[in-house]
Amino acid sequence: MVSHDAESVHRGDLAGFVRKVNEDRGLDLSQYRTGYLERRIAARLHVLGLITYRQYARYLDAHPDEYARLLDTLTINVTEFFRDTETYDVFQETVVPELVERKLSRRHRMIRAWSAGCATGEEPYSIVMSLLAALGEREFLVSVLGTDIDTSALDVARHAEYPIERLDGIPEEYRAAFLDVGESSFHVKPEVARYVRFKPLNLFEERPIHVVDVIFCRNVFIYFTRDQQARVMERFWRALHRGGFLVLGRSEKLATTLADRLELVDGSQRIYRKPH
Ligand SMILES: C[S@@+](CC[C@H](N)C(=O)[O-])C[C@H]1O[C@@H](n2cnc3c(N)ncnc32)[C@H](O)[C@@H]1O
Repeated sequence: MVSHDAESVHRGDLAGFVRKVNEDRGLDLSQYRTGYLERRIAARLHVLGLITYRQYARYLDAHPDEYARLLDTLTINVTEFFRDTETYDVFQETVVPELVERKLSRRHRMIRAWSAGCATGEEPYSIVMSLLAALGEREFLVSVLGTDIDTSALDVARHAEYPIERLDGIPEEYRAAFLDVGESSFHVKPEVARYVRFKPLNLFEERPIHVVDVIFCRNVFIYFTRDQQARVMERFWRALHRGGFLVLGRSEKLATTLADRLELVDGSQRIYRKPH
């Protein structure tokens, strides 16, 4: 009997398809494992009644909205606490001390951060825990803004309660200080959560945002074309104080238009500084 399941059908040149998507949308699908990519794309092909990657490439040209479906099947709103722990190490050891020194020299005592594309809140809560830990006894005011286009994700974020399995990503020493841990779930203590505000925001809209000291925008640009990425990064540049920091996802590239206006702080963690 001939089987027609996803594995046995010859779909053609996946590498060529991956190149096309990268060239057209600046979207690097090569970061996904091949088997995963094949299965997820096969699911879309099945829905659309298509067989080969070439057919799918033509379909994407004719129906650019399909890029959003393709991304939905691939990204699925994934986030976690302290995603890429090394990024948070550099944040604590380099970014926060530098900000503190600059603020103190100007007699300012407020640090503002913005998590753009914060999904269900793990990132802004990780930022606030890192900030509070790095500040220690120093008396600073802290404010973290979390924004996302997805309002149901923001509802979860505001609730600040997460299933117990998510605790694994949170350093042990933070748990007692910042969390109330139950049997099947934990929540961020209200006195910690009160430093974080959430607001719906489409990054393409030019709604004004308070000028901030740090912007985290991680694993969001995969949704955008290169031009869109450059527009959003331009906006981040305007929203940063001089000496402020931009933290991108580890596989994301700075737009070329910003390359000479931001200084590299850490290449592997994709951390940049707006010059003083
Ligand atoms: C993969 S999650 C990243 C979450 C978090 N930054 C992290 O790195 O774990 C991507 C988020 O970007 C949001 N997003 C996509 N397009 C957006 C847009 N145009 N404006 C604002 N948020 C957007 C999605 O709703 C999703 O929650």
